[in-house]
Amino acid sequence: EKGGYDYFMLKEIAEQPKAVADTLLGRIDAGGALTLDELRIPDSVLREVDKVVVVACGTAFHAGMIAKLAVEHWTRIPCETELASEFRYRDPILDARTLVIAISQSGETMDTLMALRHAREQGAKVLAVCNTNGSTIAREADAVLYTHAGPEVAVASTKAFLTQLVACYLVALYLAQVRGAKWGDEVRGVVRELSEISGEVERVLETMEPVRELARSLAEKRTVLFLGRHVGYPVALEGALKLKELAYMHAEGFAAGELKHGPIALIENDLPVVVVVPSPRGRSVLHDKIVSNIQEIRARGARTIVIAEEGDEAVVPYADHLIRIPATPTLLQPLVSTVPLQVFACELATARGNEVDQPRNLAKSVTVE
Ligand code: M6R
Repeated sequence: EKGGYDYFMLKEIAEQPKAVADTLLGRIDAGGALTLDELRIPDSVLREVDKVVVVACGTAFHAGMIAKLAVEHWTRIPCETELASEFRYRDPILDARTLVIAISQSGETMDTLMALRHAREQGAKVLAVCNTNGSTIAREADAVLYTHAGPEVAVASTKAFLTQLVACYLVALYLAQVRGAKWGDEVRGVVRELSEISGEVERVLETMEPVRELARSLAEKRTVLFLGRHVGYPVALEGALKLKELAYMHAEGFAAGELKHGPIALIENDLPVVVVVPSPRGRSVLHDKIVSNIQEIRARGARTIVIAEEGDEAVVPYADHLIRIPATPTLLQPLVSTVPLQVFACELATARGNEVDQPRNLAKSVTVE
């Protein structure tokens, strides 16, 4: 049942190119337009949406943080992303023009379900991004966009995350399409690249041996930090979460710009710091800023593990370890930059003798509040 892999997690990491392709299947037509027929929310309602709120937990929340950037960039509709467990306890402002997106692999996460119910009671429309047919969240939402990841068995979410990202990009692009906003060359280019991205995920998977080797060499470390900016920030949080839940190590993700506001005091000699570098094309200011962040931490002794696009030469002098990922449009980068972090955490957990598929104290779906 593990298809020759030692762990479900390894199998599910390997299945990501297919999961991504399956989630796109039948949703982009020959002309490059999106066809989300299963969205039961009429276009006329989507045109009136004036606010998007994403609710989710854990890894799905990290997908939601990236969804916010995509929704705002492509649609110019204000979007906020909130932990489902916080959402309904703070009297959020919702009405019939609010689109709430509830992201959940299992569709049974109690915190997310309660947030969904609260949103519907306030008159908001709820769209579930869900991996499990007929699950409670899928049934109670106004509409569902299924992620076609297939069953995810390992407690640590991997392929579900990538498909959640794909689904969120589709929702954001579809909103842009029905509203006619920004539906120009940029968006067309993104749709084209999205349709080819599963091949890039495959390419990343083929180059993971050095990442495994690096992970094994860090098995005795106590702490690993993760830094990112823009879409790299949620990816940093996701890398840290994976390491916590699988390797039982202290791991923290930071927005790289926040370093100087406190966390830089943590940097000491030989501390491993993973940095997710945004594309040098597109938002080059952001790229240059993170390169100077890498310089700063390295000057203080950090062991820098840099995840950067192929062809990004600016990072080379400051990277103790360099992990290359293919060039993608800025917003799509998490589809490739997350993969090495999953492999890294899985290998570290194995090296530390931990139970990869079933980490201590955790359940696959958290059905209590
Ligand atoms: O089933 P859900 O997507 O609603 O689950 C949400 C979180 O519990 C889940 O992503 C959790 O954080 C994972 N174990 C992370 O790997």
